[in-house]
Amino acid sequence: MKILFFTGKGGVGKSTMAAAAAWQLSQKSRVLIVSLDPAHNLGDIFGVDLKNKKSRYTNTLYLKEIDLQKLSREYLQREINVLSGTYKYLQTLNLDNYFSVLRYSPGIEEYALLTSIEKTIRDETDFDYIIFDTPPTGLTLRFLALPRVTITWIDRLIQIRQKILEKRYTIHRIRGTLSSEETLLDYKEEDDDILKRLWKLNTNYQALNKILQGENCSIILVFNPDILSLKESRRLMEGLNDLNLPLRLLINNKVTRENEEMAGYVEENMKKTAKDVPIDRIFLSRTLLDGKDGKLYDIREDITSNLS
Ligand SMILES: Nc1ncnc2c1ncn2[C@@H]1O[C@H](COP(=O)(O)OP(=O)(O)OP(=O)(O)O)[C@@H](O)[C@H]1O
Ligand SMILES: [Mg+2]
Repeated sequence: MKILFFTGKGGVGKSTMAAAAAWQLSQKSRVLIVSLDPAHNLGDIFGVDLKNKKSRYTNTLYLKEIDLQKLSREYLQREINVLSGTYKYLQTLNLDNYFSVLRYSPGIEEYALLTSIEKTIRDETDFDYIIFDTPPTGLTLRFLALPRVTITWIDRLIQIRQKILEKRYTIHRIRGTLSSEETLLDYKEEDDDILKRLWKLNTNYQALNKILQGENCSIILVFNPDILSLKESRRLMEGLNDLNLPLRLLINNKVTRENEEMAGYVEENMKKTAKDVPIDRIFLSRTLLDGKDGKLYDIREDITSNLS
């Protein structure tokens, strides 16, 4: 299975290009396109009402829009359940108070998104391609960075937890047998729920990171022939490079006869940062269609030759 992420600055044509690629690839393969953007327009592009559930568009093309708010609420609830289950012996800590502010915590949306991507990749094994249409650059880079960031701090948490268990074991040996009212806290690594959860999280994030950095994952950067788009694309490319994520295709979208010179200039500059990445040029289409057959605009260029 191949995984494609369409990224880029707001309004450059990520959704349009993702939809066109999905349509083109679905002529020969089974494709699922998932919109991760809180302001969805995938349904509009295909001329259908998606209602936040996976919908069959043709035999080989399925569409889905993710409800980010719902996802964040569910993510938070799952975490709260785990926390209140794990810390039920701690009466001194006011957990309710903590939970009520937790939803304002930074990173919840990014984790919710990442969890949903991971679940989609794990569950939707029937498809040859999963295409993710991502929100504008900032949020996208943050959630793509999460697996690596998370692995780093989970490693540290594991070390801290192991120290706590060692200390518990020492106390247990000094104190000897417990009276009947006392609770014995786990001190063995294999009995400790928190450590088990940290190990599991670590395994999951390592696996996800491997998928994101792997051969079957492609990040496609869409840009327009203008300077602002060039500047933001450069930042995104640097970010992807830092994170070791595979940028495989650049799409210079909305080229016209009038801006062709600027299009060439922007492409030359992009090549300086991403030497070996192919560039596709897509012309601004003036033919507005009705959203049927995956075409709100008449995109004739083949976006898929560098992807399949
Ligand atoms: N090649 C094209 N020809 C004509 N119109 C286009 C083309 N590509 C995109 N558009 C139009 O440009 C606008 C922005 O496109 P789109 O919604 O795909 O961008 P986006 O990058 O997904 O935006 P957002 O950041 O808001 O998600 C839309 O009105 C879309 O129809
Ligand atoms: Mg979009």
